[in-house]
Amino acid sequence: MKINTLSNLNHFSGTVLIPVFETDASNNHINSYNDIEISTKLFSAKKDSHYIIEKNNNIYIYIGLGKTIEYKALKTIFRRISSKQKEHFGNNLALLLTDNFEDNHVEAMISGLLLGTYNLGHFKVDRKLHPFLDSDFDFNIVSAKDHQSIAKKALKIAKAQLSVYELVDLPPNTVTPKYLSAWAKDTGSKYGFQVEILGYEASKIAGLGAFLAVGKGSENEPQFIIMKYTPKVVAQSMKHIGLVGKGITFDTGGLNIKTAGMLHMKCDMAGGGAVFGAMQLIADLQLPVQVTAIVPCAENSVDAKSFLPSDVINSYGGHSIEIIDTDAEGRLILADGLSYLIKNFKPEYIVDIATLTGSSVATLGFECGALFTNNIEMSQKLQQSGDAIGERLWPLPLWDAYKSDIESDIADVKNYSGKPVAGAISAAKFLEYFTQEHTAWAHLDIAGVAFGDDEFAKSKHATAYGVHLLTKFIENL
Ligand code: BES
Ligand code: MG
Ligand code: ZN
Repeated sequence: MKINTLSNLNHFSGTVLIPVFETDASNNHINSYNDIEISTKLFSAKKDSHYIIEKNNNIYIYIGLGKTIEYKALKTIFRRISSKQKEHFGNNLALLLTDNFEDNHVEAMISGLLLGTYNLGHFKVDRKLHPFLDSDFDFNIVSAKDHQSIAKKALKIAKAQLSVYELVDLPPNTVTPKYLSAWAKDTGSKYGFQVEILGYEASKIAGLGAFLAVGKGSENEPQFIIMKYTPKVVAQSMKHIGLVGKGITFDTGGLNIKTAGMLHMKCDMAGGGAVFGAMQLIADLQLPVQVTAIVPCAENSVDAKSFLPSDVINSYGGHSIEIIDTDAEGRLILADGLSYLIKNFKPEYIVDIATLTGSSVATLGFECGALFTNNIEMSQKLQQSGDAIGERLWPLPLWDAYKSDIESDIADVKNYSGKPVAGAISAAKFLEYFTQEHTAWAHLDIAGVAFGDDEFAKSKHATAYGVHLLTKFIENL
């Protein structure tokens, strides 16, 4: 696809997208192209409304935005247009922007257009390419302002999100830990970050005992993935951020096998997916920061070699862990991920992201992720970044009153309280135990927002939650 800027539609022929605020619906300006007069009875620019007319061989799609519109809603409207009106796209498209659109509006619109190309039918024989993805497709921005750089950024964001849709939606017999390490290597060499992989033997030598306890019960070898990004131009006072993502390619529960909800557990690497997507995007945008990211990838499976409830295992940080429930596996691999990150790379800020608990879903539903941190700056910046793009977070406490939930009689700590209360909080307290009292650590439990239902498919699918949030947070630091 090629992006061009046009100052008017005089020589354009094809489909024209015309986003309109309600306050401008009766404005002559939007009605003045090619002498089209649209009565406000037919199109009042209410949110989610649209109106299509054909004139002089062009198709004009008027898109209602209401009085004001939030980033996420705007992006969804454009995703909808791109996904459901693609038969009108042909091989070119014009986006008509009046002066009242800001950068973030333009970013949301163009990201939405690219996201609309997503097709869940990965294994269908008659899979068709969306016209927008064709290398000859002409995308024209018709505006008095220059939106080229924001358009390019919008496409980079959506491209990273599309990568993550695919990683999360592909089935667990495709997306194994080795698939993810190959993806990381390919993407690292394409976009510019380094990748190091520790397989089973190397993880054993390194002492990643909690990670291997989870991964050893599967035919698919666990992969501890380490990624490092440094910008091409290195600044003096560059910030160093550490990311850790849960990369469970499938969560059967292990020997504490799941009764309900197992079907959807290919989504249990979505936190890792968010970290992979953020690494792609950060490198693509060449952000002036240093980022070290770890995604421990494993399948939590049922096997003679699986770890047992009541096992006591050793962690990378040297602390012993009593296994109460093999289904509380995410916190085990993250514990080793966090310890490894802190001991070897000492980042200034740390964010981990994981589909960690059903309890976070029971608490907050599908509207936001749960945010745990004692660092006020991080809490504010994470929430602000999320609010700006519709990937919201809401805080839950990390009080020491919850510490007793993970105290073990036999070992240093246990992986589950055994009680059906405050599960997201005790999981966060477990992770905190492995952060070596780092003062700038935040944990995001995204079990309710990483995978779900929407208008774009019949079955639950990936949202790529976290890709943009982590990137924006890092940009805002
Ligand atoms: N992967 C699940 C959490 C999850 C739930 C992710 C719903 C996505 C949607 C996690 O590993 C898990 O099994 N958590 C258990 C923990 C419990 C056994 C302490 C849970 O939340 O029930
Ligand atoms: Mg589990
Ligand atoms: Zn899990």
